[in-house]
Amino acid sequence: MGGAYQKAYDQSVNKPDLFWDQAAKEIVWYRKYTKVLDESRKPFYRWFIDGELNTCYNALDYHIETGKGDQTAIIYDSPVTGVIKKISFSELRDAVARFAGALKGRGIAAGDRVIIYMPMIPQAVIAMLACARIGAIHSVVFGGFAPNELAIRIDDAKPKMIVSASNGIEGKKIIEYKPLLDRAIEIAKHKPSHCIIYQREQVKAPLTPGRDIDWEEAVKNAGTADCVPVKATDPLYILYTSGTTGMPKGVVRDNGGHAVALKWSMRYIYGMNPGEVFWAASDVGWVVGHSYIVYAPLLYGCTTVLFEGKPVGTPDPGVFWRVIADHDVKVLFTAPTAFRAIKKEDPRGEYFRKYDLSGFRYLFLAGERLDPNTYHWASDILKKPVVDHWWQTETGWAIAANCMGLEQFPIKPGSPTKAVPGYRVEILDADGKKMPPGKEGLVVIRLPLPPGTLPTLWQNDDKYKESYTDPFPGCYFTGDGGYVDRDGYLYIMGRVDDVINVAGHRLSTGAMEEVIAQHPDVAECAVVGASDDFKGQLPLGFVVLKEGTKKDNATIVKDLVDMIRDQIGAVAVFKQAVVVKRLPKTRSGKILRSTMRKIADGQDYTAPSTIDDPVILVEIEEAVVTLGYGKK
Ligand code: COA
Ligand code: AMP
Repeated sequence: MGGAYQKAYDQSVNKPDLFWDQAAKEIVWYRKYTKVLDESRKPFYRWFIDGELNTCYNALDYHIETGKGDQTAIIYDSPVTGVIKKISFSELRDAVARFAGALKGRGIAAGDRVIIYMPMIPQAVIAMLACARIGAIHSVVFGGFAPNELAIRIDDAKPKMIVSASNGIEGKKIIEYKPLLDRAIEIAKHKPSHCIIYQREQVKAPLTPGRDIDWEEAVKNAGTADCVPVKATDPLYILYTSGTTGMPKGVVRDNGGHAVALKWSMRYIYGMNPGEVFWAASDVGWVVGHSYIVYAPLLYGCTTVLFEGKPVGTPDPGVFWRVIADHDVKVLFTAPTAFRAIKKEDPRGEYFRKYDLSGFRYLFLAGERLDPNTYHWASDILKKPVVDHWWQTETGWAIAANCMGLEQFPIKPGSPTKAVPGYRVEILDADGKKMPPGKEGLVVIRLPLPPGTLPTLWQNDDKYKESYTDPFPGCYFTGDGGYVDRDGYLYIMGRVDDVINVAGHRLSTGAMEEVIAQHPDVAECAVVGASDDFKGQLPLGFVVLKEGTKKDNATIVKDLVDMIRDQIGAVAVFKQAVVVKRLPKTRSGKILRSTMRKIADGQDYTAPSTIDDPVILVEIEEAVVTLGYGKK
């Protein structure tokens, strides 16, 4: 026996075909799939094979055909420009169909890649849905990445077209996008045939004749494009995410499983009803933005809020409350760091009390560990459930959550509650043995993963296997460490690889090391993530200089900070590095990054028996103190 959660969970893992076939009835198919789950090419599982649908049709046209054309699809709320604009499903569909026509007119067809490098404006959503409409594969690149990172993605995705805007607005700063885009195209080996540039009021970007097209010009003479049927297994998008090296992973999302899982999640995880307002305060450049600003709310017939601002400073720490009250938001989804920012500026919740949030239902947080302090603060002030949930770019939707639409469990601060239906989460030791309750280990998900999760990496099946399924055969390795308690609650304690999480942004310390290693005076280096009260983690650099280096240490550290900002982007928040004589290593030469991480966090540690020279650890302890970290 069991409640609604247990029933759903048991069916999802014992009879996944039945469970997901039922969920797939909520989607309009041009052609029904012949099989729910195809297991013929393990570890590559495919959902809804031979099925045909169009994601854009399901997100827009379907609602118009069922009488909801006048309902608001997007509320664009931009405190940085002072604009609040409501766009109905009909208006959005028309704009999308026209932009899709413009893409088609420039030779973009099903399967072609289109990179979207845009700020949080409706045109970003229009471009994404237009690609979906004609079966083109979009790849959105977060605006905070530097040209070099954009170039890496251009070379991997090989887009025919790039869609961008003249500028973004970061708080009070105007960020010109066009020079960054031009520089990225210059660096990349692959060159797109065309770029469509949306000219914002703040900046008019000069266009490159023959290559660049003004957005308004492109749509002026374009016809409209209809939805084309695509296979359920055809890619909808590629989203690059940080791995352990400088080469990001191109996570592929297919059309069928994605539409089915996301629509299911809106009701059962987030407890939403169609017609209500959902707000994911994230960025379209991240997976949260893809899934919960764009696709899931629209597929489910909700209104989504597109917010161009920050939790603080645009104009004050009351802006989240203002948006919720103004637009009758039922569920807000954001990262804990956003709440830490609000708490820092308004610890007593004085701004909160200015607004009526009686209609608000739940706060969902994800993207990094929800520390109990932030949980208690948010929950005390809101007096509504604060729901931690855990997921990754790779999965595209939550792996563990307190599923508000199924059954509410008591909340345990620090835990994202239980595995969501579809996910068989287990804790293993390094040899693949199951760990007992309460014991920390490596978090894996037994295959197959549910619909909507990554089928593979873009044109790189080998890397998919190497990263995710080779480490523990029969399982998907999440890269996270954690444990399950006796009540079946999961605790995610952090990454066990070289991925860090800075202000809810996933970054690779390996990529930072690759940049630092290019400095002519650096012999070797290590970057580790240290805990930070505000941003969750911050990167710290440790560098060993070449013999006979003439430059002083402070100048070298400044060079490194500038290099990372220039090559990865401001979003890396790499601001601190220290010169050390040596790095701690094993006798076989492996740098002891996890020990260094513990030292930076002031935790107790035991030097591994394989350490080459334990004295170096004392030097590292002294070095982290100079940066304001370590044992206080
Ligand atoms: N375009 C250009 N630059 C960007 C950018 C973008 N889209 N996003 C961030 N940056 C820049 C910032 O301006 C900042 O630059 P600076 O060093 O010149 O000040 C730098 O990158 C670091 O940004 P960030 O770490 O975001 O710090 P912040 O002080 O600007 O904002 C928070 C802090 C907590 C308010 C913000 O990080 C936030 O809202 N985070 C939530 C993250 C999120 O939504 N994650 C998705 C999972 S839900
Ligand atoms: P991203 O792919 O950017 O969504 O980052 C995924 C990573 O963020 C996960 O592997 C975790 O390390 C971390 N993460 C996301 N949500 C949570 C959460 N609720 N609790 C703990 N860690 C989380």
